[in-house]
Amino acid sequence: MRYFTSVSDLGDLSEALRLAKEIKADRFKYDTLGRHKTLMMVFFNSSLRTRLSTQKAALNLGMNVIVLDVNAGAWKLETERGVIMDGDKPEHLLEAIPVMGCYCDIIGVRSFAGLTSREYDYGEVVLNNFIKYSGRPVFSMEAATGHPLQGFADIITIEEHKTKPRPKVVMSWAPHPRALPQAVPNSFAQWSLAAGYDLVITHPHGYELDERFTKGATIEYDREKAFEGADFVYAKNWSAYAGDNYGAILSKDRSWTVDSRTMALTNDAYFMHCLPVRRNMIVTDDVIESPRSLVIPETANREISATVVLKKMLESL
Ligand code: CP
Repeated sequence: MRYFTSVSDLGDLSEALRLAKEIKADRFKYDTLGRHKTLMMVFFNSSLRTRLSTQKAALNLGMNVIVLDVNAGAWKLETERGVIMDGDKPEHLLEAIPVMGCYCDIIGVRSFAGLTSREYDYGEVVLNNFIKYSGRPVFSMEAATGHPLQGFADIITIEEHKTKPRPKVVMSWAPHPRALPQAVPNSFAQWSLAAGYDLVITHPHGYELDERFTKGATIEYDREKAFEGADFVYAKNWSAYAGDNYGAILSKDRSWTVDSRTMALTNDAYFMHCLPVRRNMIVTDDVIESPRSLVIPETANREISATVVLKKMLESL
């Protein structure tokens, strides 16, 4: 596997889930595969889970790891081609990327959406420049439109906890004080549909996601109806995708916060969120602290999803 940006890159999802189970049972099973190979993790944005879990995954496989925080210690990078570089950015991404490629075998990239231009964000300009110019296999550690390592970890977690072949999985928009990208909900929808779940997405009007990620899901604007009989509830905020509202906050309606009253409508559903989470905006303390909360198991499975992805990339070198 040379690139990992979406569920389709993994090939057979059932086989990937089988491999995830195998690695979870013995995460050092392939600990010589990455000997003398170097992973470079490039962060344009902050991270706790991705930084730790991906580094741990590389160590599980015997790799060396370099972590580069572009905004802390490296030269400021210009990303737009054609710009006259007379400002505060002394280096262009188009040189910096092949430079990074000189010092590693595989590159992971985190680069969030700017939320000012849908065309630029959904063109995945930064990630695609790494793919085009680094000369190395590249994987997404959350890019503008997707977070595939999170999507994979989320369905590993659902597979571990489901009690029926096709659970009802509800992804619910929830309020947040800042405008967030659509990357996590896009990937959760994409991976849930690929796994064959009965996916229901509920959100206020105006928060419709890109159909390329959600085609096959049921969109239910009546939140209480959506929650009825749910086996899993995945809460997440996202900003608007559609038209001129791209990147906008259209609602901060706190009645969309996931609480025990709405969870009582479900089939004793598990609660999920990718973290970091704003307590009592996205979800109440009692729900996230309840025995049905899977937020920590999801996080733990980030190590597993990253180990599977890196194993498959190492095998392609
Ligand atoms: N869920 C997730 O990717 O967390 P970080 O932003 O902390 O990496």
